[in-house]
Amino acid sequence: MSSGLEAIANELRRLQRDGVNRVFVEDDTMRLITSRATEQARDTSAAGNSRSQRGPASTQHSDLKELINNAPPPPPQRATEAPKAPPLPEPPEITLPPGDATTQLAWLKEQVLACEVCQKHLSPEGKVVFGAGSPEADIFFCGEAPGTEEERTGEPAVGKAGQLLCKIISAMGLSRQQVYITNILKWRPEHDKPYGNRPPTPEEMHFSLPYLRAQIEIIKPKVIIALGNAAVTGLLGPDPERKLGSVRGTWASFDNIPVMITFHPSYLLRNGTLKTKRMAWEDMLQVMVKCELDISDKQRSFFLPKA
Ligand code: URA
Repeated sequence: MSSGLEAIANELRRLQRDGVNRVFVEDDTMRLITSRATEQARDTSAAGNSRSQRGPASTQHSDLKELINNAPPPPPQRATEAPKAPPLPEPPEITLPPGDATTQLAWLKEQVLACEVCQKHLSPEGKVVFGAGSPEADIFFCGEAPGTEEERTGEPAVGKAGQLLCKIISAMGLSRQQVYITNILKWRPEHDKPYGNRPPTPEEMHFSLPYLRAQIEIIKPKVIIALGNAAVTGLLGPDPERKLGSVRGTWASFDNIPVMITFHPSYLLRNGTLKTKRMAWEDMLQVMVKCELDISDKQRSFFLPKA
C-alpha cells in the first residue's frame, strides 16, 4: 500500500479505536483516495500477474479496499457556493415597542416571520426560524443558520447538530426551555447541492444582524455562546486572521455581553473524539462559572480520560 493511503488507513483505525464511527471527507479528498486506490489496484494486479502469485502487497491493498468499501457514507458535506441572487437590501431597522421581554419577543418574532427577504430565500415548504427558549434566559446560544430540519419545522436546533446541542445543555443541568437558542441567519442558506448546509455569506449575516441584536437586547443574557465560525464572524465581525482553533475557549464581547467562543455541534458530530468533547465541555464549564451555576464533581470530570 502506498504510504499516503497507509497513513489514512492507520488514522481511520486510530479514530475508530477512539470511538469515532463517522468521518467527514471532502469531495476532492474522496476522489483522490479513490483514484489512488484504483491506481494501486492496477499496479498490484500488474505486479501480481508478472509474479503470477499474490504477495503481501495485494493483501494490504484489499484491506484498504475493504476499509473504503465498508466505510459509512460520508455525512452531508458543506456546500460552499451561494447561488447568484440579487443583492440584499439594507438591513432592517428595529425599534422595539414598550413592554416586557415576552411581549417584545413576541412582537419581534412577528416581524421576523413576516420578513419578505427571509421568506424569499426559503425552499417551497420551508419556514423562517426565529429562535426559541426563555425570554429571561441567562444563556443565549447563537448558531449559524437553520438546517433542513430547522427550516422544515421552523424551530432551531432540532436536526442532528441541534440534538447534540440539547444534550450539551442538559449536561449543564438545564433544559432548552431555560436557555435561548437562535442563529445568526433566520433562513436556511440556499445552495447548489441537494444535501448539506452552506455557511451564511457576510452579506446575509449583515442583513440578519439587527434581528439578532434585538433578540439579545430583549433577553439581556449573562452570556452568549457563539457556536462555530459563522456565529463568531456574525457577532464579532469578519477577521481573516481569526482562526476558530485559536479563539475557541476564550471570551469576546458583543454589546458588552461576554461571548464564549466554542465549536459548532456539527464539528463535534464529525470530530467527536474524547479530546474535542472535553474542549467543548471546558467551554461550557467556563460559562457555568460565569453564570454562577452549581457544578458537581461529576460534571467537572465529564470527558476526562479514564485514569
Ligand atoms: N441547529 C440550528 O438551528 N443552528 C445551528 O447552527 C445548528 C443546529
